[in-house]
Amino acid sequence: LKTLSIRSKLKNYVVTIHKDTETISTQGPDSRLIYIVDSRVWKLHRNDLLKNVRNANIIFLDASEGIKSLATVQELYKDLLIYEIQRATQIVVIGGGVIQDVSGFVASTIYRGIDWTFIPTTLLAQVDSCIGGKSSLNFMGYKNLLGTFFPPSKIDIYPEFLTTLHIEDFYSGLGEIVKLHIVAGKEKYSFLKSEVSNFLLHHEHSVFQVICSSLETKKKFIEEDEFDVGNRRFLNYGHCFGHAIEASSEFRIPHGQAVIIGMLLANLVSLKRNVLSRSVYDDLIALLFSCLLSKPKKEELATKLIINGLINDKKRSGSKLALILLKDNFEMELIQDMEEMEVHFALKELQKLLDL
Ligand SMILES: NC(=O)c1ccc[n+]([C@@H]2O[C@H](COP(=O)([O-])OP(=O)(O)OC[C@H]3O[C@@H](n4cnc5c(N)ncnc54)[C@H](O)[C@@H]3O)[C@@H](O)[C@H]2O)c1
Ligand SMILES: [Zn+2]
Repeated sequence: LKTLSIRSKLKNYVVTIHKDTETISTQGPDSRLIYIVDSRVWKLHRNDLLKNVRNANIIFLDASEGIKSLATVQELYKDLLIYEIQRATQIVVIGGGVIQDVSGFVASTIYRGIDWTFIPTTLLAQVDSCIGGKSSLNFMGYKNLLGTFFPPSKIDIYPEFLTTLHIEDFYSGLGEIVKLHIVAGKEKYSFLKSEVSNFLLHHEHSVFQVICSSLETKKKFIEEDEFDVGNRRFLNYGHCFGHAIEASSEFRIPHGQAVIIGMLLANLVSLKRNVLSRSVYDDLIALLFSCLLSKPKKEELATKLIINGLINDKKRSGSKLALILLKDNFEMELIQDMEEMEVHFALKELQKLLDL
C-alpha cells in the first residue's frame, strides 16, 4: 500500500495504490453511494474485486469514445435522479479513461459539483489520467472539446484490474508511461529502462513500482501548473504527431501507441536540428521500439494526412507547425516553427527505421 497526496487549488486529494488483492469495500451503511461502472469491468470482476459492490445502486456504461457526449451526460443525470441523488451522495466511478471523463463531467456539474471517488481500471487511467482533475467530452467531431477541472476526492488503485486488460490497452497505457519517464528527465528515464522488461512480463513488484513512479512524475507537473498553461504542456510530448497518427489511422492505432510513434518522429526532428545528440537518440529508439506493439502501416504515415493533423493541433499558434521537442539533457521545448520539410524528413526516416 502506498499513498500519494495531490495538492490542488480546487481540493487536495489522495491516491492510494493497493498492493495486495483486496476486494473493494463499500463505506458504512449510512453513507449514500451510487456507482458508475464500466460494464466490461463488471462482467470480469463482479465475483472478485467488485464482490462487495453487488447490492449497491449501479449505473453501467459501455466504454467507447462515442459515449463521451452530452447525450450520455444527460442520461446519467436522469439515472442519478432515479437513484435519488442528493448533495451528500458520493459517486464511485469504476473504469478507464472514458468512464472517468464522462462521469467526472457529471460529478463536476450536478449540484455544481459533488464528491466522487475514482477507481481506475486501465493502465492509462492508473498511471496517468486519474490525477490532474480533467474531464472531457467530445462535441461535433472535436475530441475533448468540452470539459471541466474537478478532481475526485479519492482515488483507489488496484493493479489487479490490469490482469484482464486487452494487450492493446496495456500497450496504450505503456506509451504514456514512457512519455512521462522521458519528460521527467534522465533519472526517471534510466529507472524505466531498467524496469521495462519486468514490467512487460507483468511482474507484480515492477508493475507497482512503475505505477507509483508514473504518478509521482505526473504529480510534479500538475502541482506546478494545474491549469495547463506552462510546463504541464510538456506532458504533450509525442502528442503533436501522435494525435495526427491516431487520425490518419482512423483510430486503429491506440492513443498511447500513437504517442510512441509521435515521440520517435519528434526525436527525428530534434536530431535533424542538432538539438539532440545521436547517442541519446539511439538510446531512446531502443526503449521506444521495445514498447511498440506493432508497426503502423505505410499509408498511416502519409505526409499529407499527418500534416493535416498537425495543422489542427491545439497548441499551434502562428502559420507554421507546433512541436514539443526533446533536447539534450532531457530538456523540453515547445517550438512553433516546424516546417513541412521537417515533417517529410521525419516520416521518411521513420519508414526506413520500421522497414516499411
Ligand atoms: N481526463 C484525463 O485527464 C484524460 C487523460 C488521458 C486520456 N483521457 C481519455 O481516456 C480515454 C482512454 O481511456 P482508456 O485508455 O483508459 O480506455 P477506455 O476507458 O476506453 O478502456 C479501454 C477498454 O478497456 C476496457 N476495460 C477497462 N478496464 C478493464 C479491465 N480492468 N479489464 C478488461 N477490460 C477493461 C473498457 O471496457 C474498454 O473496452 C480517452 O477518451 C482519452 O481522451 C483522459
Ligand atoms: Zn495522451
